Amino acid sequence: MIIDPSTMPWLHAYRLMIGSILPRPIAWVSTTSKEGVHNLAPFSFFTAVAAEPMTICFSPMRRGSDGGKKDTLANIEETGEFVVNIVSEALAEAMNRTAADLPPEVDEFQVAGLTPVASATVRAPRVGECLVAYECRLLQVVHVGEAKPGAGALVLGTVQRLYVADEVLDQGRIKLDLLQPIGRMAGNDYVRCTDRFSVERPTTGR
Ligand SMILES: Cc1cc2nc3c(=O)[nH]c(=O)nc-3n(C[C@H](O)[C@H](O)[C@H](O)COP(=O)(O)O)c2cc1C
Repeated sequence: MIIDPSTMPWLHAYRLMIGSILPRPIAWVSTTSKEGVHNLAPFSFFTAVAAEPMTICFSPMRRGSDGGKKDTLANIEETGEFVVNIVSEALAEAMNRTAADLPPEVDEFQVAGLTPVASATVRAPRVGECLVAYECRLLQVVHVGEAKPGAGALVLGTVQRLYVADEVLDQGRIKLDLLQPIGRMAGNDYVRCTDRFSVERPTTGR
């Protein structure tokens, strides 16, 4: 079957994407509003962009209910800063609590019982319980679609500082078995990084 996504309701198109673009890593994004309220929410439309300068990106969609901007995007556009925290398996429940659609004056660190720890270069705190966190300065927001449900935005951030807990760092590499990052599937499902296999890469002439 060949599908033209422009002919279907956005939710149907969304379901096809989250069921086939898998597994997705999770950016647990902390921001601080202009008024000084901390915000924390997970985003699985998330990946790396470049190593020099170290750059990452994630995509907050418009709210499904009213097409408004999510608090995370509003804070980033106002302050130009955010932190991406990596979710270990032990933090899955807490992460899920921060996905509730709460008003901007609610601090999700408090809702989920998490510790905001001051960042080195940005006002937004990192999650103290996380073993890896990327402090970012906003590089660019690319708005995609109109201001209504189904639309999104690509948020690119230049990493100013990278926090890595000493115990997960081994000669410049991350110890995956200690970090235990989780990935998002469709619906309420998640995956661990424990079912791995290797494939040798071909050597190239260049
Ligand atoms: C694991 C997980 C991944 C999510 N990924 C996304 C995502 O990629 N894009 C998005 O717009 N919302 C995503 N959500 C939903 C947001 O976290 C949710 O809308 C949240 O309330 C946004 O918070 P904010 O308004 O404080 O920014 C995800 C939720 C969960 C539980």
